[in-house]
Amino acid sequence: MWLNEVKGAFMRSALAVLVLTVPAGTALAQADNCRDCHMAIEDEDGPAHKSVRDIHIQKGLGCVECHGGDVSLEDMDEVRAAAGYRGVPTHRQVPQFCARCHSDAAYMRGHNPALPTDQLDKYRTSVHGIRLFEHRDAKVANCISCHSVHEIGDAKMPHSSTHPANLAQMCGKCHSDADYMAEYGIPTTQVEDYTGSVHGIALLERGDLGAPACNDCHGNHGAAPPGVSSLSAVCGNCHAVESDYFDGSPHKAPFEELGFPMCETCHSNHAIVRPLDEMVGTSEPAVCLQCHTADDGTVAFATADTISRALGQLVAAHGGADSLLSEAIEKGMMTTDEEFRLKEVRQALIQARTLVHSFDADSVLPRVELGLEKADIVKTNAAALIDEYYFRRKGLGFATLFITVLVIALYIKVRRVDRRLRS
Ligand code: HEC
Ligand code: HEC
Ligand code: HEC
Ligand code: HEC
Ligand code: HEC
Ligand code: HEC
Ligand code: HEC
Ligand code: HEC
Ligand code: HEC
Repeated sequence: MWLNEVKGAFMRSALAVLVLTVPAGTALAQADNCRDCHMAIEDEDGPAHKSVRDIHIQKGLGCVECHGGDVSLEDMDEVRAAAGYRGVPTHRQVPQFCARCHSDAAYMRGHNPALPTDQLDKYRTSVHGIRLFEHRDAKVANCISCHSVHEIGDAKMPHSSTHPANLAQMCGKCHSDADYMAEYGIPTTQVEDYTGSVHGIALLERGDLGAPACNDCHGNHGAAPPGVSSLSAVCGNCHAVESDYFDGSPHKAPFEELGFPMCETCHSNHAIVRPLDEMVGTSEPAVCLQCHTADDGTVAFATADTISRALGQLVAAHGGADSLLSEAIEKGMMTTDEEFRLKEVRQALIQARTLVHSFDADSVLPRVELGLEKADIVKTNAAALIDEYYFRRKGLGFATLFITVLVIALYIKVRRVDRRLRS
């Protein structure tokens, strides 16, 4: 404590010097002793220095708004003794400490009317909140585990722990730590799996903000594992077409009955990879084999086989059309119409792959046939363009030969006339 007194005495004299050197009538009214003193006594990563990046401080709130006390006091012991000093909350007190403002709709409206005020209510329903309040578990996330403290940002600030690019790492502080999570018996591979997934690569490597971060599937404050019934909603938020086809498919009812999650069953949750056509069919690595056999009394195997063959045909047709058209392009022919048509073939292929989620051959086949027809037209027309190229070349050859012969004949004729005139 003597250190404090020394510090306090030092600060008092420092502040006195400050007061004396400040020209009369300037900013003194706004003097914030909390911040000034803490800035002076803390090292670089102390609360006051960090808080330069904090949205509360940036928006004009002070230390006193969270911690209480009295900004006009020049001594920490007096601050502690002041009415309303809240000090530092324990792990379990943090949610209420923050919610004093964030759940107060009238207060928040005065500052930022667009901000929701339901964080604590939602947090209470999450696995984190339930364990904190009901099981007094201090290892789960509270507000500051996720938001940091003294450098809290909104989700758009690049330094913010809740910025989409930083989120996986933030959740991973606990969820990737096998020792920390050991007592709960849940996997600790989410961040690793996610980072290598289509979603992780899109968001973290390409900066595609359309791809989900942890909170897009789990929610921010209601961080709970999406249950079977809500799963369709989670993936379907972004993959609406697949979700609609699935709802109309013969899998809808049995999946619900058996408790299979509707997308995760075939795609997994965190380690989602780019699907291949080989995922549908009757041989490895088709996912259909996980549940169906040739003699399970359903049309599943026949359906898988038909769809798989049809997709294979369309891929081959697209490839054939593509290489003929490339040849025509290389030879400098006018190919704009055919290039457009080839895009339609590609489109049909993409749609047919999405239609796999109807798990119904009659839905997939018409789209494949449409693609095959267009591919045939591209092939025919591209072949014709290539023929035309050779025909023109042949024509050009004949023309060149004819002109050469003509020139030679003319030359001979001129020489003869010339000689005759001289003789
Ligand atoms: C004259 C310097 C000075 C002023 C003014 C000051 N503090 Fe402190 N504060 C300190 C010191 C030094 C400590 C460390 C105390 C310790 O280690 O016992 C401290 C500790 C704290 C702590 C840690 C918790 C605790 O109670 O020890 C908080 C929170 C805090 N101050 C907030 C504030 C707020 C809010 C204000 C303004 C209302 C303020 N301080 C004003 C010097 C100051
Ligand atoms: C948005 C609310 C908020 C604001 C604003 C805020 N703090 Fe804090 N502060 C907290 C919380 C919450 C804790 C508890 C952190 C923990 O448990 O790890 C804390 C802890 C502290 C501590 C003790 C632990 C430590 O990190 O050393 C000090 C000292 C402190 N704050 C000082 C300050 C000062 C000085 C300011 C102003 C520059 C300030 N705080 C602004 C919420 C706030
Ligand atoms: C004294 C009231 C008060 C307390 C206590 C408080 N906040 Fe805030 N907080 C605000 C206000 C006001 C804003 C809005 C600033 C603005 O946008 O103008 C804000 C903004 C935020 C934002 C940014 C929201 C956004 O997306 O724009 C986050 C995140 C946040 N606070 C988290 C916390 C956390 C975590 C705690 C507890 C450690 C906390 N706050 C404690 C008043 C408070
Ligand atoms: C499990 C992590 C986690 C916990 C725990 C958590 N938050 Fe958040 N919070 C987030 C994320 C992530 C966002 C960013 C949402 C986005 O992308 O806009 C957020 C957003 C916010 C916002 C901005 C407004 C909004 O609702 O989107 C505020 C304010 C906020 N949190 C306050 C709190 C408070 C107060 C608590 C404690 C009661 C808390 N948070 C607990 C992760 C968390
Ligand atoms: C401070 C450490 C910590 C942080 C940070 C954290 N969590 Fe947790 N989380 C836990 C602990 C501990 C549990 C309890 C595990 C249990 O009960 O199974 C948990 C539980 C969960 C669960 C429920 C798991 C289950 O099925 O039981 C989900 C989902 C979850 N967290 C998601 C997240 C997400 C998403 C983030 C980041 C936005 C996050 N967590 C940040 C510690 C943390
Ligand atoms: C594309 C959606 C999605 C994303 C993104 C996502 N999750 Fe999950 N997560 C799920 C689903 C679905 C489950 C399984 C729920 C079930 O089986 O009931 C799950 C389960 C969990 C669980 C429970 C334990 C387990 O592994 O089954 C934790 C913890 C978790 N996720 C954390 C995270 C973290 C941390 C991130 C970010 C690195 C993340 N999740 C990203 C969808 C997602
Ligand atoms: C927030 C929106 C969002 C959510 C939620 C979401 N995804 Fe995605 N998903 C995307 C985006 C964007 C891409 C494209 C990534 C790319 O371009 O590589 C994608 C790609 C995919 C792909 C690869 C598609 C392809 O053609 O290569 C699959 C499979 C996938 N998601 C499945 C899922 C499943 C299963 C869930 C739920 C557990 C889910 N997604 C949740 C946005 C989302
Ligand atoms: C996780 C298990 C599972 C996977 C994987 C799966 N199915 Fe199924 N499928 C079922 C169940 C259960 C039924 C209902 C069986 C019944 O009605 O007896 C079903 C029914 C069907 C039906 C309707 C059969 C009928 O006769 O009415 C078709 C078609 C079908 N599946 C196709 C597929 C295809 C194609 C794949 C691979 C892309 C696939 N399934 C993958 C579990 C699965
Ligand atoms: C029974 C297994 C199964 C289920 C359940 C399933 N899928 Fe698929 N999914 C597949 C197969 C097989 C493919 C590969 C199709 C292809 O590329 O030929 C695929 C491909 C995809 C693709 C890439 C092709 C496209 O449509 O753009 C996305 C995205 C996708 N699935 C999302 C989902 C979503 C979202 C759900 C839940 C609504 C879901 N899947 C449910 C088997 C399944």
